[in-house]
Amino acid sequence: MQQAEKKQNAAKAALNYIENDIVLGVGTGSTVNYLIDLLPSVRDRLRAIVSSSTATTARLEELGFEVSLLNAVGDIDLYIDGADEANKHLQLIKGGGGALTREKVLAGAARKFVCIIDDSKLVGRLGEFPLPIEVIPMAQSFVARKIAKMRGQPIWREKFVTDNGNHILDIHNLVISNPLEMETRLNQLPGVLTVGIFAHRPADVLIIGEDSNIRVMGK
Ligand code: 5RP
Repeated sequence: MQQAEKKQNAAKAALNYIENDIVLGVGTGSTVNYLIDLLPSVRDRLRAIVSSSTATTARLEELGFEVSLLNAVGDIDLYIDGADEANKHLQLIKGGGGALTREKVLAGAARKFVCIIDDSKLVGRLGEFPLPIEVIPMAQSFVARKIAKMRGQPIWREKFVTDNGNHILDIHNLVISNPLEMETRLNQLPGVLTVGIFAHRPADVLIIGEDSNIRVMGK
């Protein structure tokens, strides 16, 4: 089965978590785009919908959804998003699409976080995928030097500006043996806005699209 079909199947399975009268948070990326395409079928169940990026907002609005601001709705009942990597503890690396800051805010505000991936993203140890970090532009070189001292290789994602007006460093070859500690450590560098490790707020449910079926971890 193709990767795209596995992503689509995971997105379809996530519809089962959408109960009546909920505030739904919607992530960003190709897997979530499959979910967005299916959302009109559950439109009546949604009290409000909140988006993690301008790209997702545009797609939702194209389908006639009115997108609310997080500040206007309070907490989110359910957040559904993809990931670049996930481990068996449901800790994630996110930010391949550069939307990690708003994604982390929505995950933090959510009572339940359902993550949808294809099976290529389930890994033994996080960090093979280059770790995205959002930095404020004036701190970019400073943060990059600090990370080089931690034996990571930071690569500036050129010609990319986040929805928040910031830059992304993609950290290659960083050894992440303890995701919780690494998230905390990188968060403490001045100028870092968001680290793409989601360990302090992991997913609650991981839906994995596999060759012939769907696997669900967590609850
Ligand atoms: C965007 C993200 C995405 O969830 C992640 O990059 C996965 O993307 P895709 O579903 O396209 O594989 O974190 O910032």
